[in-house]
Amino acid sequence: MTDTATTTDLFSKFDPLIEQRRALLSTGLTDPFNLVMEKVLSPTRAICNGRETILLGTYNYMGMTFDPDVVAAGKLALDDFGSGTTGSRVLNGTYAGHRDVEAALREFYGMDHAMVFSTGYQANLGIISTMAGKGDYIVLDIDSHASIWDGCKMGDAEVVPFKHNDIEAMEKRLRRIPEGAGKLVILEGVYSMLGDIAPLKEMIAVAKAHGAMVLVDEAHSMGFIGPNGRGVAEDQGVLDQVDFVIGTFSKSVGTVGGFCVSNHPKFEILRLVCRPYVFTASLPPSVMHTAATSIRKLMHAGDKRAHLWENSRTLHAGMLARGFKLGTQTPQSAIISVIMPDLERGAAMWEALLHEGLYVNLARPPATPAGMTLLRCSLCAEHTAEQVQTILGMFERAGKAMGII
Ligand SMILES: Cc1ncc(COP(=O)(O)O)c(C=O)c1O
Repeated sequence: MTDTATTTDLFSKFDPLIEQRRALLSTGLTDPFNLVMEKVLSPTRAICNGRETILLGTYNYMGMTFDPDVVAAGKLALDDFGSGTTGSRVLNGTYAGHRDVEAALREFYGMDHAMVFSTGYQANLGIISTMAGKGDYIVLDIDSHASIWDGCKMGDAEVVPFKHNDIEAMEKRLRRIPEGAGKLVILEGVYSMLGDIAPLKEMIAVAKAHGAMVLVDEAHSMGFIGPNGRGVAEDQGVLDQVDFVIGTFSKSVGTVGGFCVSNHPKFEILRLVCRPYVFTASLPPSVMHTAATSIRKLMHAGDKRAHLWENSRTLHAGMLARGFKLGTQTPQSAIISVIMPDLERGAAMWEALLHEGLYVNLARPPATPAGMTLLRCSLCAEHTAEQVQTILGMFERAGKAMGII
């Protein structure tokens, strides 16, 4: 044995990323991944770097974060139940609010069972890893969210990805799975990087024909898409064929938390065997009361949904007319993704927009498909028609100044 062993620096694997960041910031660029909201004025306006900024990069699709009833419910719960539960749902962490938010979810989706997790990330981690284990097969879209991939990894099932939204490729994978094996097909309603939707009707029909159970992550469609805001599966008339709907409170609901709803008669056993549900503290009661109030209001938000569609159509058409390259040919969701030529110009455009007084999300690999750099614009039902026009003007000026259009 030597006196002093050499330590292998486990950070060395991050060196390329550290160097890329250093090079990007050495140009004097504002760090796009370190912005602070100094004050939030409304669902669509905040003070960033001391200046009023229009928010076009939040997931606050339905603008519920400042809804007076939602805020009041949270304040009341803080007074009545305190700041946190300090425990797991299966021990001391189930309060009246946790039960009530699960009731609100059952009402919202018209389903028999609802289970709330601390985040949507944990909902995917928990449901996927618990349902599909060693010897089972998961067939999933290659563009699936990181939480879906991580759930697959944790569960140890055989993971079979297929090309994004490609029904034939999905069927081919399903055909190859041995007879009698457990199969879970995982799809998303809206894919959040490009803002495109899945052909769920056709895909679920194929999955069912091959005897697979189906999980659909509706994180980016809940509250907005579908006649009752239940998501893309509702919109395409196939919600009753989905075994597990995964969702989050961190987008349209306007707070934090995740969930799974299902009609499966054995669903409740998951509360005892799902590790990301059991081995973590439950959400604070204030969050539960804000979520339950928000979900019940979203059941009657038809006018807001119509206005958000109007915003999406206007922004999409306006961007195309100005010569921007977009992630979808038609507006399919509340996300309009603007494709940038590369990370450097994407980051420069992001900063130019910030100087105009507009915040959007800069997205880059590995979060994005095909190595793309994107400026992701997420609309809100509280954006006014005037704000959308202002946003288009800001994009036009910044796009011209940066040589993007
Ligand atoms: C498709 C999808 N699923 C799950 C999640 C995780 O949600 P949460 O923020 O509640 O962890 C996200 C978040 O971005 C998402 O986009």
